Amino acid sequence: MTVVKNVCCIGAGYVGGPTCAVLAYKCPDIKVTIVDLSEARIAAWNSDHLPIYEPGLDEVVFACRDKNLFFSTNVDAAIQEADLIFVSVNTPTKKSGMGAGMAADLAYVESATRRIAEVAKSSKIVVEKSTVPCRTAQSMRTILEANSTPEIQFDILSNPEFLAEGTAIKDLLNPDRVLIGALQTESGIEAQNALVDVYTHWVPKERVITTNLWSSELSKLAANAMLAQRISSINALSAICEATGADVDEVAFACGKDTRLGSKFLKASVGFGGSCFQKDILNLVYLSKQLNLPEVAAYWEQVVIMNEYQKKRFVRNIISTLFNTITNKKIAVLGFAFKKDTGDTRESAAITLIKDFIQENARVAIYDPKVEAQQIYMDLSEPGVVDTQKQLEKNVQICQSAYEAADGADAVVIVTEWDEFRDDQLDYSKIYTGMNKPAFLFDGRLLVNAQKLRQIGFKVSVIGKNELAGTA
Ligand code: UDX
Ligand code: UDX
Repeated sequence: MTVVKNVCCIGAGYVGGPTCAVLAYKCPDIKVTIVDLSEARIAAWNSDHLPIYEPGLDEVVFACRDKNLFFSTNVDAAIQEADLIFVSVNTPTKKSGMGAGMAADLAYVESATRRIAEVAKSSKIVVEKSTVPCRTAQSMRTILEANSTPEIQFDILSNPEFLAEGTAIKDLLNPDRVLIGALQTESGIEAQNALVDVYTHWVPKERVITTNLWSSELSKLAANAMLAQRISSINALSAICEATGADVDEVAFACGKDTRLGSKFLKASVGFGGSCFQKDILNLVYLSKQLNLPEVAAYWEQVVIMNEYQKKRFVRNIISTLFNTITNKKIAVLGFAFKKDTGDTRESAAITLIKDFIQENARVAIYDPKVEAQQIYMDLSEPGVVDTQKQLEKNVQICQSAYEAADGADAVVIVTEWDEFRDDQLDYSKIYTGMNKPAFLFDGRLLVNAQKLRQIGFKVSVIGKNELAGTA
């Protein structure tokens, strides 16, 4: 029976870093080395200021770093030492070539796999951790098998990560399930059992699901697609609510009480963001098209189309409420991260909204408690349109507080649901006093009590709510 004693993780990103740090934390008998090509990233992991913000991550890393958890750029040495290797490199959507804008770019997965094949001096279990299109393991296997010898064998497992940002450590310590897919051969099953043994150091055995490779790969895409679909469903309903006077929170609550539906992931919003949902759905769409299943592709694509529509609808509502023009008006944007408790901005709805505001020649003042100014400028630049920070600074101001952003503003727009923007935390009377009148507030997250803010004097619009509709 294979016993895992030494783990290597290629890719020290949002997925690889926290996942393998928790593994080291829970398995003191296993040596874990996380490697990355980026020297800066590894240096940050080895410093007091970790490159990723996640509640609880510091404690986990500081408890085992340099004991059984190591961060290094020496990829080859870590591969050679390991019995089991997680491939956790990024798989962005392709920007050019076949499948551009949809298919996953597997170049990093392939180069990591080739590296393993080149430098391995003993047998390895190679675990696909990055989210990949269904049947990617097949390509990895082909590369590894072409390089295997009677002495050096490679087994491939799929072990997708289901953690959500902001709750990564909680999700990793107490996962709903761990999924491990393997080829159903003798050595595949042995490798699968070896990884099951690693996880059962802290995860109850009944939560560790074993499947074939392809089910595991597809389940990850399916889970994200279904989660995103729920958000697009409630967002589609939010448009109906605004037109009829129904209240989207009430509708979500009433539907969520049905135990078959459940209450989670039914919060209407300005649109989902994050590195996974859109990318994984587009992956599924591309896969369906390749499999000659156009109706299936169109079905899933609609989830993304609805998400784009929701963002545009929100912007349109802001412009029309502000008397059909926001030229030279100051818009205070509260929140830039794609959701609260993370500094991550990938695919954040804020980016789309603010680019639209800039196109309309508005002045935008942005405050986010965790996102660095540099990141905001990078996200908002558009090659050929506004590509330098200097150009952006004409329209965009990055602020140190919500009060500073709202000072002299015509409208406040809540884009991320940070707790500090709640009406029991932020002094909205003070915000109101500093604003131009009429003072508009647009809540894209159903975060504040509109009634309370109206009493202060704000003109409030909330996604999925329209008290005036249906009364005429
Ligand atoms: C990424 C994907 O977004 C996700 O779909 C997948 O499930 C896991 O990988 P994430 O960890 O958030 O998630 O990506 P990122 O933070 O970009 O980290 C990837 C790391 O891999 C980067 O630090 C990058 O430098 C590193 N990398 C990339 C390598 O070490 N070697 C490579 O060949 C390529
Ligand atoms: C997601 C999946 O939840 C996770 O299992 C997977 O491993 C990676 O992708 P993440 O992207 O970190 O995780 O965040 P998540 O909490 O799922 O939120 C995604 C987006 O949906 C955010 O922009 C969030 O604000 C939005 N959202 C979520 C809603 O608009 N409404 C909801 O009810 C829930």
